[in-house]
Amino acid sequence: MASLVKSDSLRQAGAERLDVWSIFNPTNMPKDSINLGQGFMSWAPPDFILEAANDAISNNVMANHYSPARGRPRLRNAIASHYSKEFTHLGQKGLDPETEILVTAGANEGMYAALLAYLNPGDEVICIEPFFDQYTASIIFNGGVPVYVPLHPPPAGQTGAKPTGKDWRVDFDELRAAITPKTKVIILNTPHNPVGKMFNRSELEQFAKVAIDNNLLVLSDEVYDCLTYDGHEHIRIATLPGMWERTITVGSAGKSFAATGWRIGWLIAPPQLIQTALMASTRIIFCVNGPLQEAAAVGLELADSKNFFQTQRKEYAERRDVLMEVFDNLELSYTIPDGSYFLLVDISRIVLPENYDFPAILDGRGRDFRVCWFIAQEVGVVAIPPSEFYSKDHVHIGENFARFAFCKDPETLKAAGARLQKLKQYLK
Ligand SMILES: Cc1ncc(COP(=O)(O)O)c(C=O)c1O
Repeated sequence: MASLVKSDSLRQAGAERLDVWSIFNPTNMPKDSINLGQGFMSWAPPDFILEAANDAISNNVMANHYSPARGRPRLRNAIASHYSKEFTHLGQKGLDPETEILVTAGANEGMYAALLAYLNPGDEVICIEPFFDQYTASIIFNGGVPVYVPLHPPPAGQTGAKPTGKDWRVDFDELRAAITPKTKVIILNTPHNPVGKMFNRSELEQFAKVAIDNNLLVLSDEVYDCLTYDGHEHIRIATLPGMWERTITVGSAGKSFAATGWRIGWLIAPPQLIQTALMASTRIIFCVNGPLQEAAAVGLELADSKNFFQTQRKEYAERRDVLMEVFDNLELSYTIPDGSYFLLVDISRIVLPENYDFPAILDGRGRDFRVCWFIAQEVGVVAIPPSEFYSKDHVHIGENFARFAFCKDPETLKAAGARLQKLKQYLK
């Protein structure tokens, strides 16, 4: 048989080298290491949602069969009433569950479907770095070309400094310079993975102006919209003047309800944008699993009466504080996250021992890969090197940081914290 070679799009999307998730996979890590790497929770979804899932599987025959490709009506209705409070520009009518919502297999598939629906070969897509790494493959697989515009970090290496999201800045002249006649889409992510930044109104207005002036679609990844801290206001770019008609807002039940494995997400947009994404999604997955859509619907229906999101925000803020204290004790600087569940720590003060034996899979990768490998092997705590979320030209920006996830119970975070104190001896 002729040997099978990878497709060009797979190669362009980086399949020639191992991705960060494979390198920092638990099987490569010491057996007893504490995993603050990949962003999944160390607890189950809340009981009222689990009960709804069990109930749908056991008692709702139709939910166990193919669902409407658009998503189950109960979930679309629940999404519409949950979000309509914020999409006030739509007035009394609010979001139309029949035409303005598409349920997807997680936010990932929703974004993939939207890019498949709108990209032609050679169309350019602006990604703000650091970016969630699935974006690159979703753009390239659909014929697009990613164009990278970095968030500029606060100065690295400052002892005890505590920047916040607003200290990571987009240079809007740089953004405008990156736009060409081929630019079709801007992907935004707020609250942001891995920085924890939430774009403020003035920043979003500047993005909106660029999108309107250049007739661009905005894919606004807001999967962490329920995870915001210190009273930071989550602003949806779709609600700014002139933006509803050109924005697809992306949500995720996985992030909102601690159910990342359920693969339930959604797109919200005007009918013409949803209709086209629906055509793509129908051909990718046809429909999303039914019982867990029913359960996600119950989650949204009961969230307010159970004060669910408010309580969850408080619990996450406590977990965030546990992790921040760990790095305060080490006097390592980090960005205080306004939202999401990641802490981006400045690792430029960590000095690696000379002649340490790093595996060949780290060759050619940023310094952060070596630091995270060293921390995992010698300290027993797994973090993610964020230079993976930068284009080759901008690896130098990301390699000064390590991403620690705090979607773990406080005991796990405290245990990780105790281990991390070992880093003291490697600080300059
Ligand atoms: C920024 C961002 N967008 C999208 C996703 C994927 O969401 P989902 O699990 O709903 O596909 C993630 C998951 O880590 C993420 O961090």
